[in-house]
Amino acid sequence: MRKNVLITIDGPAASGKGKISSYISKKWKLKHLDSGILYRALAFRLLKNDINLESDNDIKKSLKFINKISFRKYKQLRNENISKAASKIAIYQSVRNFINKIQQNHVKENIKSNGFVVDGRDIGSKVFKNADLKLYIEVNEQNRAKRRYKQLIDTGEKSIYPKILKEIKLRDYKDRNRKYSPLVIPNDAFVINNNGSFSDTIEQINKLIKDL
Ligand code: C5P
Repeated sequence: MRKNVLITIDGPAASGKGKISSYISKKWKLKHLDSGILYRALAFRLLKNDINLESDNDIKKSLKFINKISFRKYKQLRNENISKAASKIAIYQSVRNFINKIQQNHVKENIKSNGFVVDGRDIGSKVFKNADLKLYIEVNEQNRAKRRYKQLIDTGEKSIYPKILKEIKLRDYKDRNRKYSPLVIPNDAFVINNNGSFSDTIEQINKLIKDL
């Protein structure tokens, strides 16, 4: 693998993008940027400030007063309330432009010293169209719901499997059907099947990265 590459990973909710990105980041010494955490952190901030998430206008106004979003992966940003709120605000172009700029600036400022792996929904299709390698992670709904359920139980949250499955379907619907930057498979992406074991998935991916 040559130096300072940019790898994008897109896929639906709970498809394993986070785990795969962390693995790639460690193995290939790349920085990891989790774009979902930016949507979550912004949603958390807007909720805290009592902003009406149904109002594009109110959100637009409040974005003018926010000049920094933390990249830190606080545990409280992972709960289902924030997941729902993040996917609610992700439909607005103002929000997407705001977050895209943060991501693009961050990568631009740091890519000379280190390569990146960036994961999300529109990273290969919109945010970094010129990435060196684009991956799209595919997992069926049931497997994603099972894994998310286990994750929540393991972290001590109460959770009900049918509810998780319903919420994953709803988030998929919203992510795939929104007007701006819907979740799509980028034309030039490699589709990675992550229904099997993690080691199978990683084997497919490492082969591609080795050749960069
Ligand atoms: O990936 P994660 O589940 O943390 O993302 C939270 C929400 O943020 C997603 O449901 C999606 O609606 C939104 N998102 C997005 N575009 C991205 C990353 C996340 O719309 N690049």
